[in-house]
Amino acid sequence: MRTVISLDEFRAARLALPGSVGLVPTMGYLHEGHLSLIRRAREECNSVVVSIFVNPTQFGANEDLSKYPRDLARDLSLIEPLGVDLVWNPTPEIMYPPGFQTWVEVEVLTRPLEGTIRTSHFKGVATVVAKLFNAVQPHKAYFGQKDAQQAAVIRQMVRDLNFPIEISVCPTLREADGLAMSSRNKYLEGPDRAAATILFRALSAAKAAYEAGERNAEKLRTLMKDMLASEQRAQPQYVSCADYDTLEELDLIHGKTLLSMAVLIGRTRLIDNFVLN
Ligand code: PAF
Repeated sequence: MRTVISLDEFRAARLALPGSVGLVPTMGYLHEGHLSLIRRAREECNSVVVSIFVNPTQFGANEDLSKYPRDLARDLSLIEPLGVDLVWNPTPEIMYPPGFQTWVEVEVLTRPLEGTIRTSHFKGVATVVAKLFNAVQPHKAYFGQKDAQQAAVIRQMVRDLNFPIEISVCPTLREADGLAMSSRNKYLEGPDRAAATILFRALSAAKAAYEAGERNAEKLRTLMKDMLASEQRAQPQYVSCADYDTLEELDLIHGKTLLSMAVLIGRTRLIDNFVLN
């Protein structure tokens, strides 16, 4: 496994990779969820590239960029045994040189849900992912279902900008008690850790109601909100029952549907979702 920093070094190493290339873009501080994406890429592609870059442009002014957990040595030791060929760990100056002024903005899909609170987040995500796609030129790229809106935004960008890349969205990995794996779970301390399972419990309750025949989307939103209200430490930011592809809120459920939510547990912001088919 080779780890490189500069764009020139990366390009030279990329050119030497044989066959189909799978890219797993990450911001580091890897957990089992990331490792499952890497394993999938290893199964499906001849060569595997992992990028590790904490992308400053997807953090809002009041978000946790400087506190975002980082541990490159730990990340490398976790991915080395998985047969990764090349790791790219660029600096912010490499990705955003002085005078940088070109952005990728996906319009309608970035407005609801996360977009209502993190207004410039997806501009940063789409721009950095487009830059990674240009540098890596992968055949396939792997993302987690936990960031469902991010996956939808990237699929849209790939269609709109004609990237010849297959986007693979892989299942959310969970802790034994249902909490979705996330680098931010590190911030959950003391009673916040147990309280954080309320997202999974609320989503599970809505899914059970759906499976029992409930098709009224507002009833499912209310059910999830009521469950969240039962946890004192939980402050919901949004609770949604939306069309899986357009992310528009539904009245009546028909077809593939995304149940999703963002909730503050203490000072930690968590998101989670279930897909109803
Ligand atoms: O999901 C993430 O970790 C990031 O948003 C991504 C896709 C690596 C872009 O910085």
